[in-house]
Amino acid sequence: MSSSSSPYSDLPLKPIPGDYGLPFFGAIKDRLDYFYNQGEDEFFHSRVTKHKSTVFKTNMPPGPFMASNPRVIAVLDAVSFPVLFDTSKVEKRNVFDGTFFPSVKFTGGYRVLSYLDPSEPNHTALKSYCLSVLAKKHDNFIPLFRTCLSELFIDVEDEMANKGSAYLNTFINQMSFNFFFNLFCDKKPVDSTIGPKLFDKWLFLQLAPLMTLGLPKFLNFLEDFVLHTFPLPSFLVKSDYNKVYEAFYSFSGSVLDEAKRFGISKEEACHNLVFLAGFNGYGGLKTLFPALIKWVGLAGEQLHRQLVEEIRTVVKAEGGVTLSALDQMVLTKSVVYEALRIEPPVPYQYGKAKADMVVHSHDAAFEIKKGDMIFGYQPFATKDPRVFDSPEEFVGQRFVGDQGEKLLKYVYWSNGRETDDPTVENKQCPGKNLVVLLARVLLVELFLRYDTFTVEAGKVPLGSSVTFKSLTKAAST
Ligand code: HEM
Repeated sequence: MSSSSSPYSDLPLKPIPGDYGLPFFGAIKDRLDYFYNQGEDEFFHSRVTKHKSTVFKTNMPPGPFMASNPRVIAVLDAVSFPVLFDTSKVEKRNVFDGTFFPSVKFTGGYRVLSYLDPSEPNHTALKSYCLSVLAKKHDNFIPLFRTCLSELFIDVEDEMANKGSAYLNTFINQMSFNFFFNLFCDKKPVDSTIGPKLFDKWLFLQLAPLMTLGLPKFLNFLEDFVLHTFPLPSFLVKSDYNKVYEAFYSFSGSVLDEAKRFGISKEEACHNLVFLAGFNGYGGLKTLFPALIKWVGLAGEQLHRQLVEEIRTVVKAEGGVTLSALDQMVLTKSVVYEALRIEPPVPYQYGKAKADMVVHSHDAAFEIKKGDMIFGYQPFATKDPRVFDSPEEFVGQRFVGDQGEKLLKYVYWSNGRETDDPTVENKQCPGKNLVVLLARVLLVELFLRYDTFTVEAGKVPLGSSVTFKSLTKAAST
């Protein structure tokens, strides 16, 4: 049995509280509680209260008949959660979406990188390839993203002029799609039918088991049956997927040629590239950016004034939006980390115990058996009140200064600590630095153009929605 040596090593060993209920019925009950009777936050809160523990047993959706085994051990605090980052202790094979694994027909017959465990040789090949592609494209990140943002703000201003408000998610989707297509293919799609809606349809069919559409109550059972009981068929999106694949195959030649060096065929590389662009990249940004704008918008004018001051002063002194300028913007950086902390875009992580082990919460130690599925609901770990003061509050300055920076190791959005880096041995997101960079540039462009803004926030399946209600143009730059 392995056990981590830490300040928590002396804690008493306790049995893991909770139960799975009756076979089949227990899983259905938990699924209905999770989606309809309680909602995800209350689902976890009520169980933490009932069991007086942040580590407990529960079923996780979707369950029957989508997942062969819905039983998990939930880890919901900042201390126990990182066991999921330790690939010597947990197996990450086919758990990217949770307890179910979408058909490989969605990805051209290949198990793409996100589903591979680091012990599989193909993980090393594909992750090295991915890191190499991103490193080669590094110099394009800022100029390309700024061009995409200019287009976004033109569209948003048009919409504001016409309608008096602008629903931002649609524009963010278009902009994120344009960014990744251009990044890998060096141009816009020639076929104008290739756009974010194709990715949305493809993502929906794969992620439906984790979604609720927020329909009226009387439709809950119907929705539960359609979305959560059987996998939705891939043929519904086959021709759309092929169209995107062909476009990538035709235009991302130099990126695909590079794959040979890593022993990867051009076809496998291209299916992985579509997944990087469409699922990891587009899927990630379409969730992160509305949340970021929402929290910054709701934080109000005082934070906006401070960001304006920092951003415009540094950009002026540095003569532009450069990596070195971005690095000096301590408040902007902190605001991005705070958004990733308070609303992590990918809230669930899974890993199967590779051996018997002991996991600690703040208060106790628990024995987990080989083969058990460990599940982390990240918003609870990154809002752990024993690590973060006022954890439910968006505090823009939270990560500023020496004390603030010490908290970065508790920011987990990338499936690793913010102080760690993605490698071929771990499952940390290889887009980590890119994502943080883009989020900073988004704030910089926003506050170079505008002094302040107001928003209306809402919910969409798997994230937040945000609408600009007002935008006040910059009085001075
Ligand atoms: C806001 C945007 C993003 C978020 C929130 C995000 C989050 C994550 C998370 C949580 C994981 C680990 C999942 C797990 O195994 O449990 C992951 C893995 C991964 N991400 Fe990201 N990601 C984002 C953007 C990107 C981008 C831009 C890329 C590349 C272009 C990327 C590529 C990947 C890949 C390839 C993996 C699998 C890593 C491995 O197998 O070792 N992600 N990401």
